[in-house]
Amino acid sequence: MRLAENSSNLDSIFSGQRILPVLSIHRESDVLPLADALAAGGITNLEITLRTPLGLAAIRLLAEQRPQLCVGAGTVLDGRQFQSVLDAGARFVVSPGCTDELLTLGLDSPVPLLPGVATASEIMRGYRMGYRCFKLFPAEVCGGVALLKAFAGPFHDVRFCPTGGITPAKLADYLALGNVVAAGGSWMAPPALMEAGDWAGITRLCRQFAPHG
Ligand code: 3PG
Repeated sequence: MRLAENSSNLDSIFSGQRILPVLSIHRESDVLPLADALAAGGITNLEITLRTPLGLAAIRLLAEQRPQLCVGAGTVLDGRQFQSVLDAGARFVVSPGCTDELLTLGLDSPVPLLPGVATASEIMRGYRMGYRCFKLFPAEVCGGVALLKAFAGPFHDVRFCPTGGITPAKLADYLALGNVVAAGGSWMAPPALMEAGDWAGITRLCRQFAPHG
């Protein structure tokens, strides 16, 4: 069982960077300049989702060409996708929910799984298997900061990476919570800047919003 090792791996990923860009790739040619723009802004952990057909190839390209970055896979929905992102070189795996299939695969995975939860029962399902760190999704819809404060009571040793609807204006409230390891979202690479190829603009945004430590 590698779960304990993977938990400490997640801790070290998030200890250096408490925001996580959640990125969907629409043009293959964006992948390297986008990653370089984020890195120039101090963001070296990133999640590439499988929401577009280019997601898997983007993870593979970054694993090969930018091994200094910590590139994870997001929107992993089943065991087949889990295996394909491992094969592509993902350094962590994120799912929006927590099926038994994914939770079981995460126990012995070579890289950490961050399973998604939105309710106490889902946390308890993962908790009994040994998980102590979850993605809260969709954070703003399912209760946001108030829900995380409420979860701190019964789940005092559980930590979360909330994502979904978090804006820069709300970021500080999330990061101030003791049970939040990091907060994720797409605001660091907004569609308008991506479409325009405004990589310098993305670097500026990251510098502005990337609190470290
Ligand atoms: C996710 O999968 O984590 C979210 O879709 C990212 O959320 P955002 O686009 O609302 O920031």
